[in-house]
Amino acid sequence: MTISKNQTLQAEAVPCFRAQAQPNIALVKYWGKQNIPGNIPAVGSLSITLDALRTQTTVRFDPEIAADVFVLNGENNPSGLPRVSRCLDLLRQEAGTSCRAYIESDNNFPTAAGLASSASGFAALVMAAGKALGLEVTRSRYAQWARQGSGSAARSIYGGFVEMKLSKRRSDVITEPLLDAEEWPLEVVVAITHTHVKSVSSSEGMERTRSTSPYYSRWVATQDQDLHDAREAVLARDFERLGLISEQSCLKMHGLALAARPGLIYWTAATVSCLHAIREMRASGYPVFFTVDAGPQVKAICEPRVTAEVARTLQSVNGVLKTVISHLGQGARLV
Ligand code: PMV
Repeated sequence: MTISKNQTLQAEAVPCFRAQAQPNIALVKYWGKQNIPGNIPAVGSLSITLDALRTQTTVRFDPEIAADVFVLNGENNPSGLPRVSRCLDLLRQEAGTSCRAYIESDNNFPTAAGLASSASGFAALVMAAGKALGLEVTRSRYAQWARQGSGSAARSIYGGFVEMKLSKRRSDVITEPLLDAEEWPLEVVVAITHTHVKSVSSSEGMERTRSTSPYYSRWVATQDQDLHDAREAVLARDFERLGLISEQSCLKMHGLALAARPGLIYWTAATVSCLHAIREMRASGYPVFFTVDAGPQVKAICEPRVTAEVARTLQSVNGVLKTVISHLGQGARLV
């Protein structure tokens, strides 16, 4: 193939940047939004960033195209495009451009199935787009943009243990790393029980819960104490304490979602079997606890010396399709 001088110049004029981000798993959950602009959560949250699951996103701003194009896992994705474009508009506004972009994103794990693909997706998107636009901004600015794409995405800008807290007036969010991955190298076994796209998205589930669940106000009222306890447990590297708070936060979140109208049941039978299996292991002395997001997959957080045994146990649970073992990972970065 011969490339004309013009084409070469054009290719140089629109450089593309690729960023990688990993999903994060909340130990103290975010569930519910405030009724104000900016996708501000109703509660703070605390998470760990994973290493084994990855999203890589390439962004190329191209003056030659009239509309954004979003390709997800090799296929054009018009249904995901409006959210992606709205998020890119924030960066375009910052850069003072209306130039459209070609966005290509790939996950090495099932998308929209309760594995936090939107968190890694929006974190990788803003980082690649910001660099492509030449923006010189801090990580916290990237976190703000990512949050507007998906609330939990702000946490994937950072690695290790991350807290997303509400400002004093609760009208803004501050996302901060608490410990690096190496400072407390826990591991996570993800038990995949279903790979289909979930039927009720997190945003829809949150809104239904906020407007109909009788437990919602107690959830909001008790979150600051949970966050405080979890933060202390992380800083003291107190595994047992962190496990108790995390399991309670997970069950609380699912409890209020179950009590919405109509109730939200994100779990499969295998999800519940995994929770029992993890509690049985803990009762016999294994340092392991569970959490489950808005989907049927179970995440077992454990000390590295028991990871193999936890994975073997979960793999043998009826209905578990696959287990994935992960270290804790780094924040979003260019690759
Ligand atoms: O970021 P969203 O809108 O996909 O919501 C995430 C919600 C949970 O994963 C269930 C909890 C959390 O804090 O990540």
